[in-house]
Amino acid sequence: MIRRFVTGTPLDTEAVLHKPEPTDSAVPYFEKTERGFTYRLDKDDVVYGLGENVRGINKRGWVYESCCVDEPNHQEDTKSLYGAHNFLIVSGRERCFGLFLDTPGKVKFDIGYTHYDRMEIIMEDDSFELYVIDADSPDEVVHEFRSVTGRSYIPPKWAFGFGQCRWSYYTADEVREVARQYRENHIPLDMVYLDIDYMERYKDFTVDRKAFPDFEELVAEMKEQGIRLIPIIDAGVKVEEGYDVYEEGVENQYFCKDGDGEDFVVGVWPGKCHFPDMLNDEARRWFGHKYKFLLDKGIEGFWNDMNEPAVFYSEKRLKRIFEQLEKYKTMNLDVNTFFEFRNLVSTVSGNPEDYRSFFHNYKGQKIRHDKVHNLFGYYMTRSASEAFDELVPDKRILMFSRASYIGMHRYGGIWMGDNKSWWSHLLMNLKMLPSLNMCGFLYTGADIGGFGADATQDLLLRWLALGIFMPLMRDHSAAGTRRQEAYAFDDTQSARDIIGLRYRLIPYIYSEYMKAALKDEMYARPLGFVWGDDPIAVHVEDQLMIGESIMIAPVYEQNAAGRVVYLPEEMKLLRFAGTEITEERVLEKGHHYISVGLNEVVIFLRRGHILPLSSRAERVDQIDWENLELHHFADDGAVYELYDDDGVDREVTLEGHIRTLAV
Ligand code: GLC
Repeated sequence: MIRRFVTGTPLDTEAVLHKPEPTDSAVPYFEKTERGFTYRLDKDDVVYGLGENVRGINKRGWVYESCCVDEPNHQEDTKSLYGAHNFLIVSGRERCFGLFLDTPGKVKFDIGYTHYDRMEIIMEDDSFELYVIDADSPDEVVHEFRSVTGRSYIPPKWAFGFGQCRWSYYTADEVREVARQYRENHIPLDMVYLDIDYMERYKDFTVDRKAFPDFEELVAEMKEQGIRLIPIIDAGVKVEEGYDVYEEGVENQYFCKDGDGEDFVVGVWPGKCHFPDMLNDEARRWFGHKYKFLLDKGIEGFWNDMNEPAVFYSEKRLKRIFEQLEKYKTMNLDVNTFFEFRNLVSTVSGNPEDYRSFFHNYKGQKIRHDKVHNLFGYYMTRSASEAFDELVPDKRILMFSRASYIGMHRYGGIWMGDNKSWWSHLLMNLKMLPSLNMCGFLYTGADIGGFGADATQDLLLRWLALGIFMPLMRDHSAAGTRRQEAYAFDDTQSARDIIGLRYRLIPYIYSEYMKAALKDEMYARPLGFVWGDDPIAVHVEDQLMIGESIMIAPVYEQNAAGRVVYLPEEMKLLRFAGTEITEERVLEKGHHYISVGLNEVVIFLRRGHILPLSSRAERVDQIDWENLELHHFADDGAVYELYDDDGVDREVTLEGHIRTLAV
């Protein structure tokens, strides 16, 4: 049962599509406070949710903020990342319910941080919609929530292949070289990503013809090899006379305005930029149709970046800083003035004051940006997706974004942003997946090997061994870091085998993904969702159920030769090395130490279930879906409903696409 409570005059974020009539009664379970609500947490309550965030699958014991930020430091004390996902599930002995707070401004979730037995929600805006979802289990809460927020984004089938990215492959020849290395080493690959340097001076919807003189041919040549090129699109539009996107935006009043009614000037990659007013219906439609420039060149996928939106500086702030610096020049910088001086420069980016200094034209109404901040990335991605509906109605386009809000899950996936080549971030990747799935973001994954900092061979292999279960599987690294392509280290064989296993798993992964999307369910679940009555399972933070049949327990510590795994029931261990099964063993319920070599992947199969595997393939379109090996843990027989379709058609239904496999 979903109840909706409306306070004040909230803006319709369009996160919820099917809204129940609002209820007048008081919000249940919570006590109203001056700026929000509190809830008394029981000793055993587990709090799931909040999508993209640091810390645990169980969010209890920390304080989080919903505020989309360009935050490259994903640390334990980081309070917000790129997405704002105000959805929680409280699962305890007394009750189980979900909560969605629909407000595009900042929200603070103190989940047993100030007081261990209290959850406090504090809002900046006093107009909001609140949804309370009562159900018998977390799974049901998610199902109910997702059935009102709309179907999750469905990417093309090839987007379940492996993708290689780097900031940047600077020239067409560098791209060709990456493809050559993958193909010659027989490491499967379906995508190479283009980062900002494919553009002419970082201008959206342009191509740098010096570095990519034959861009169209390159796209075609790569496609011949079964590799799609996926360019990045940034939120800021470069201010430059003669640049069509800039000029059209200025002429038609499509950019966000500053307090004086001028186009707001902000610094991002190209230097001075304007932000397209993504909340303005007309501007959004205009921006979305700009993707045609690349679609016409044969491009079939994009990633939207810097759309929190990231602000390096605002023109006005920069001016003030320079003026102030002049004064410091002649001063004797002491204990006070030195730190003032330092702060002045270090707070130049993403400054909250700047977010209060520009405006949107939302349905003819002038709205200050900070009031709707968390919608920007969502509406940018929506702009592209709605344009694709018109421009390419007959095929799916790959689309994922960095910033997001609930509702955006209908238009694209997200990646987990600028993580680092740290072991702790490998584990964070695992924890974020189910939290995002709850919120509707099914197509997601982290930068495998880590974006910032230097990767090592063992980190990459362990991360790949987790990454093969992520719907979005992409290796990406920052400029200046050590190369971490799958062929970059000595042990290419293990990387080939682990990625090879991904391709053997694609029939299962795609099938589980599509069923989750079409049935409003999750693709990856915490153990507590499946074994809610098992007090050990409920607190497992480093294992996941992937789809209905398998549990994973990756190794996430350097130099560990294995790890302890908890089995909530008897399961069958399947050990893979060289993409083949080297060990099958039934293990009883309980804790087990499992050794896992760097070249290995261990999967735990549930009783009564089947894991279908295809033979090896090096690109998604070569996977043989007909002759599947059926691995099972079933003495009395079992069935598996395999979903399959052409991977392209946008009209997707379960009907007509399910094949029953039986043992
Ligand atoms: C941002 C993105 C990252 C990208 C970089 C350059 O940091 O998060 O993925 O490589 O910008 O475009």
